[in-house]
Amino acid sequence: MTHLAAAPSPSVRVRAPGKVNLSLRVGRVQDDGYHPLATIFQAVALFEEVTATQVPEGAGVTITVDGPQADRVPVDETNLAWRAAEALARRVGVAPDVALHLAKGVPVAGGMAGGSADAAATLVACDALWQTGLSRGDLTSLAADLGSDVPFALLGHTAVGTGRGHLLTPAMSRGEFHWAFATQDEGLSTPAVYNRFDELSEGSDARDADPAIEADTALMQALRAGDPHALGRALHNDLQPAALSLRPELERTIGVAREAGALGAFVSGSGPSVAALGRSRQHALAIAASWTAESAADAVWCTSGPAHGARLLP
Ligand code: C5P
Repeated sequence: MTHLAAAPSPSVRVRAPGKVNLSLRVGRVQDDGYHPLATIFQAVALFEEVTATQVPEGAGVTITVDGPQADRVPVDETNLAWRAAEALARRVGVAPDVALHLAKGVPVAGGMAGGSADAAATLVACDALWQTGLSRGDLTSLAADLGSDVPFALLGHTAVGTGRGHLLTPAMSRGEFHWAFATQDEGLSTPAVYNRFDELSEGSDARDADPAIEADTALMQALRAGDPHALGRALHNDLQPAALSLRPELERTIGVAREAGALGAFVSGSGPSVAALGRSRQHALAIAASWTAESAADAVWCTSGPAHGARLLP
């Protein structure tokens, strides 16, 4: 007698990166509540891994999560991955029946776009699972509707972002840069940081409606030359004063990294993660060790960039 094992449900795995904004220039808030940005993204090799598995018709979307901070991730429709699956299903007219498993490798609520990476990975995974035939351009436009950072998680590597940060142009970058990240258990809300930015810049004429990327010529040159010293000098974040005013203790985290010889240390995106650029992988590890020794972070992470965008795993 032969036994026929049930065929496993079709399943697809996709990996998508977190990011650091090497430069983040923010203009005056617009009527739609968003701020025009001129930013330079670098994807870093901290990855979210999403597994999408086909489930019986009518089962709907389900989410499970693992990773060191899994308990902080919602598993309902407020999760951006859930919304990504539903948006794609709606776009192509299929039922949103899929089990999503998120393996978290990007710090949660740290200003490193881990949730956006989940959404980007989910789009690519469900696109493959449902064989939608959509183009990468179609996925990018769905991504932009989900959140400002989602298109970059699809694209990866290094890119200039304008608009809400969702209009991307790939940028040249040579070699590998070595980063240490200090994260905090308590996240910062992105809208709260932008609100504080508005309060701090009230009455100032300094903010153009449209921030100009030309200000980052030195940074773009540093990337093309693969020069970490020049890159360290050119790092810039307009949201840093707002993040520091909400979390003054981050000042010390930045200070500890500078004392450890970081080529640059600053708030990552809307925070509260702090990013520090090292001369080498060893140096990034040493910066992270200083944060731990000085109790200047709840957790530390070392990685490198640029990294690839959302990609199917074999
Ligand atoms: O696009 P996303 O959903 O990631 O944005 C989250 C929030 O961050 C927005 O609701 C808005 O308050 C703020 N934001 C902004 N300007 C941007 C991007 C985000 O004000 N360019």
